This record gives sequence, structure tokens and C-alpha cells, in this order.
Amino acid sequence: MDKFVIRGGNPLVGTIRVSGAKNAALPAMAAAILTEEPVILENIPDVRDIRTERTLLVSMGAEVELGYGRAHHRTTLCCRNLANPEAAYELVKTMRASTLVLGPLVARMGRARVSQPGGCAIGARPIDLHIKGLEQLGATITQDHGYIEASAERLRGGHIIFDKITVTGTEDLMMAATLAEGETVMENCAREPEVSDLAVLLNKMGARIEGAGTSTIRIQGVSKLHGARHRIIPDRIEAGTFVIAGALCGGDLTVSNCDPGHLGALLKKLEECGVQFKTSENSVRVTGGHALAAADVSTEEYPGFPTDMQAQYMALATQASGVSAITENIFENRFMHAQELVRMGANIMVEGSRAVVHGPAQLSGAAVQCSDLREWRRLIFCNEGVIPNPDVELVRRNGEGHALLLLQTKTLRPLESGGADSSLRSE
Ligand code: EPZ
Repeated sequence: MDKFVIRGGNPLVGTIRVSGAKNAALPAMAAAILTEEPVILENIPDVRDIRTERTLLVSMGAEVELGYGRAHHRTTLCCRNLANPEAAYELVKTMRASTLVLGPLVARMGRARVSQPGGCAIGARPIDLHIKGLEQLGATITQDHGYIEASAERLRGGHIIFDKITVTGTEDLMMAATLAEGETVMENCAREPEVSDLAVLLNKMGARIEGAGTSTIRIQGVSKLHGARHRIIPDRIEAGTFVIAGALCGGDLTVSNCDPGHLGALLKKLEECGVQFKTSENSVRVTGGHALAAADVSTEEYPGFPTDMQAQYMALATQASGVSAITENIFENRFMHAQELVRMGANIMVEGSRAVVHGPAQLSGAAVQCSDLREWRRLIFCNEGVIPNPDVELVRRNGEGHALLLLQTKTLRPLESGGADSSLRSE
């Protein structure tokens, strides 16, 4: 599926359920490498990166069983016989999170061969901090022919201070340290909920991790981990995306099965913009159609405003009255969507890491190109248009009215007759 045609004009009315977090599921799947026993993961989303990681694990010798019917979000992974501790370029180039297997492989198998990821649409994305950290845990690393080769008879605990906060770097080294000899202390760690979720899984597997979710994580290495069952947390970026959709498209949308506690910075900013919403323990109900006010945003590591919500926020800013300055601090090239929004009529000036949006702008439908990494259902919403962001081209034919998007397997159930009406089709 590489093209969507979206006809705007429908309010979003109903309830939409958020999937499991892709970025929590990916490290959780890699964690299965650390044990010979089965790891059962619930709430795995059905997105391309997850399928790629399954393929990667299978290529190494893992047995993968997928749930079906009501259990279709369950994946069971068993890495009893890992014959081939290698992540080939063909897979790594399509999914940078493949580097998450580096730490677990060297910890469990004593060796790993993982392709270097290369360039990326949103910036350089080096993995030097993963490599440096593994060396501090005693691994010998060589780089040759585009591959990183790591080896260690057994990793040993160490003191790692990250020069820069890195999410997958924290996860990779946390996994490696679980099987190292002795204690590892990691400082300046990422505090994302996905890191905490991984620590919960690893501790269920017998690891001894303290402090995940804070800047300092302590890990007492153990000699062996065992199988476990774990439910992946809801995807906070998908949830936030739907909340912005609800704010932009009018109507009355309940975003269910999410954790509003993970959306703090976003919800605070939306409140400042005048978005009307109410949270419960596991949902956010947003009513659209209210006047929006411009507000500046700077992306930061968690608990700051997420870089993964920056594009969606920019779409909202095009419809807010006033000037919004959006500063991207995490990735160097993450404004590719700005020019596409301009093609639809938005008034946006990009200067280096700052985009200045003048709103509100009258938008009109246009064919637009999406280049960011996220699966297509991570979307940029506009008042009268909807742009999915990764690798897909969107053709929008009817420029009138608000946007409505029905996503993949998701359905919006109208609360009352005359509610949501699908105006999205794929070609
Ligand atoms: C994770 O990427 C997410 N991916 C990204 O989501 C997310 O945008 C990003 O964190 C930031 O929140 C997964 O969790 C699978 P980083 P990650 O290492 O871990 C620099 C999505 O669409 N850095 O935290 O790769 C790096 O260049 C994706 O779901 C180094 O310099 O990001 C960046 O400037 C896109 N050296 C900063 O750190 C390193 O060794 C943060 O990157 C590693 C990172």
C-alpha cells in the first residue's frame, strides 16, 4: 500500500483504540535473544518494523509463533537455537532498530555481527554510543566492510556515562548488562516509558535492574535469564497523533487504551493551544472545532515534548492563530513534512533546526510525498487534509472540509448515527 486518497470534510466521532507501542515491542523482541526459553509478548502492533524484526530473528534461528484470532497481537519467540548471530545489511537498512540485537547477541552468544545502519531520512543517526558502551562492558569491537563485529567471552559490569541521551542505546546496553558479570551503572540514560517497559520485561525474565525510567540505571548481572510473558505498553505517539487528529478535524473522539501519563508534555502544550480534552485513567476524549492559538514547541528527550510528535504538531500549528516556532533538537533533518504542508497552502519558514509557522492557513488538497520513518499510520493531520508520513505518497482529491482518516485495521465507531464516514481509500 503506497498511496492514499483522502477526502476531507468529516468530523472524527467515536472511539479509537491505540495499539501496542512499536518502540517498546522492538526491544522486547530483541530481549528474547537473552534466553533459551520462550518469551510471550502481548499487544504487539502489526506494523512493518515488527515484521522486519521477526524476519531478522528467524534468520538467526529463532522460532516465532504468531497468535491468531483474538490472540493475533501475541507473538511467542524462542531463541533456543541461535545458529547465526548476524543482522544483515538488507534488513538493517530498512529498520535501524535492528541494532538492538547487538547487545543481546554478544551477551548471550559471545559474538555478534551487525550491519552498520548508514544514513537515514531524519538525520545521521550514529550508533557510536552503543559501541562505546559495549566496549566498556568488555566487548572487543571491530568494524569492517560495513559491519560491526563484537565479541566477548563474557561481558563484565562497567560504568557507562552516555555522552548524549539515547533511547535504543540505553535499551541495547541495559539488555547486554543483564548477563554481564557484576554490576553495571549507566548514567545519563533515556527515561522514555519504552525503556521502563523493557526493564519490566527483563526483570520478569530474572534480570536485576533498578532505576529504569530515571537517568541512572543499575544492573546486577546474572548468569542466565528465563522465559516470561509480558504485555507491551500502549503507543504514546499513536495516541498523541489521534488526539491531534481529534482536535483538528472537529467532532468528539475518544482515544482509548492509552496511558495519558505518557502524554504529559504533549497534553500540556495542547492545553496551551486551546485544545479541549479530558483524560481518564486510560483514555483521552478530545472535542474539536474550537479556536486554536499558536504556541512554541521545542522537542526534547522524555519527559519533554517528543520529536515523534513534532510533525503532527506542525500540522496543528498551521490551523492555530498566530506564530508558532517549532524547534527540533533531537534529529538534524526532521522537517521534511514542512515543504509538503507548504504545498497544501501552509505558511512555514524553516531555518536550520527551527520552523516558524504562521496560522491559520487555508489549506487545499494536493498530492504530497511522505518521507519520515514511521509507519504510514503515524500521520500528519491538517484541518482540511491528512498526510501520512513515511514512504508513501498521498494523493488528495477533494480539497473541501476537514479530514477524516480511518487507519489500517482500525475502525471509528460512530457514537450516534451520522457520525464517522470513511473518506479514505488506498490504491
Ligand atoms: C528512538 O530512536 C526511537 N526509535 C525513535 O522513533 C525516536 O524518534 C527517538 O528514539 C528519539 O525519541 C526506537 O525506539 C526504535 P536516539 P533512537 O538514539 O534510539 C544521537 C520512530 O519513528 N545518537 O535516542 O535511534 C542521535 O543521532 C523512531 O518510531 C548518537 O549521537 O534515537 C540523535 O541525535 C524514529 N549516537 C540522539 O542521539 C548514538 O550512538 C537521540 O537518538 C545514538 C544516538
